[in-house]
Amino acid sequence: MKKILVTGGAGFIGSHTVIELVGRGFIPVIADNFSNSDRRVTDGLTSILGHRPETVMIDCTDSGAMERLFADHGFHAVIHFAAFKAVGESVTDPLRYYRNNLLTTQVVLECMRTYGVRHLVFSSSCTVYGQPDSLPVTEQSPLKPPVSPYGYTKQVCEHMVCDFVSAEPGFSAGLLRYFNPVGAHPSGLNGELPYGVPSNLVPFITQTAAGLRPALTIFGSDYATPDGTCIRDYIHVTDLAGAHVRALDWLEANPGKCEAFNLGQGRGHSVKEVIDTFERVTGQHVPVVMGPRRAGDVEQIWAEVTKANRALNWHTELGLEVALADAWRWQQYVNTLPAP
Ligand code: UD1
Repeated sequence: MKKILVTGGAGFIGSHTVIELVGRGFIPVIADNFSNSDRRVTDGLTSILGHRPETVMIDCTDSGAMERLFADHGFHAVIHFAAFKAVGESVTDPLRYYRNNLLTTQVVLECMRTYGVRHLVFSSSCTVYGQPDSLPVTEQSPLKPPVSPYGYTKQVCEHMVCDFVSAEPGFSAGLLRYFNPVGAHPSGLNGELPYGVPSNLVPFITQTAAGLRPALTIFGSDYATPDGTCIRDYIHVTDLAGAHVRALDWLEANPGKCEAFNLGQGRGHSVKEVIDTFERVTGQHVPVVMGPRRAGDVEQIWAEVTKANRALNWHTELGLEVALADAWRWQQYVNTLPAP
């Protein structure tokens, strides 16, 4: 069975991808420094999978430790998630973001070259499009200046990966541009577990509904959108995780290629629509206050996903309602867990 290195595999998307990999007969090896995750996630994975996936506590910027990891395993491919991802934090502490996000990617590529691991799935983001001129965005849409250092790190890493693939015959890479991943595993045993105050919308909604936060602040209600709030393309994390497994097939069939794929639902929802949908599907009330716009937010973006549908033979199966119900089930489970 093929071993897949999953850097950042204890994170939100990484852990769901581990579940999908096991379901397709791969052996995932998680490499994570647990800077934004903890044992509760790997315990949840163990319950879902029936066994504890191999997990190595490692900082992926540590090239010596990464060399040893590659030497100890014959990896077939790498799925590289390990990165910081809070847009606002990247504005206030940009060097932390450039150091971590660029260096982890560089070290992964150097190890792949040294050990002849020829397939890479890179965790990118729709943030590389900046505020697009026309919607929906396709993979051919121009990459505008990103609105945050986080966005720049994703753009630079995409270039780093494709330059590497051009220079190294036989290697291939897929740049998966995520829109807004939400939801949780249907078992309610795995989901998003942010440290401190969540910066993403759905964890903030569920924590507010659970009474852990007094109210949700809507960041801006004066945007040029039908209800004045920002529009995003929300995709269930299980659908998103499945695309990574499909991407492994594409990489094997396409040596020498480095291509981007949009991964979204293919339609936009406003912040208000997400809150209303959550209240409707869960029956929970979410107290809301209106606030100013958040630095680094784009007004609206959603994806054209035809390329991923065709090339990866991948389609979303779960909608926003399922995602929000699953996220609420996960929040209720988290409430029963001890602190990390
Ligand atoms: C951004 C990136 C996305 C990236 C993610 C990582 C863009 C377009 N998207 O997502 O690619 O993967 O960061 O974290 O750059 N909101 C509130 N109140 C809150 C929290 C959020 O109103 O308390 C609003 C935001 O203003 C935004 C929407 O909810 O309009 C979604 O925000 P969030 O979940 O943080 O994700 P993005 O910033 O869209």
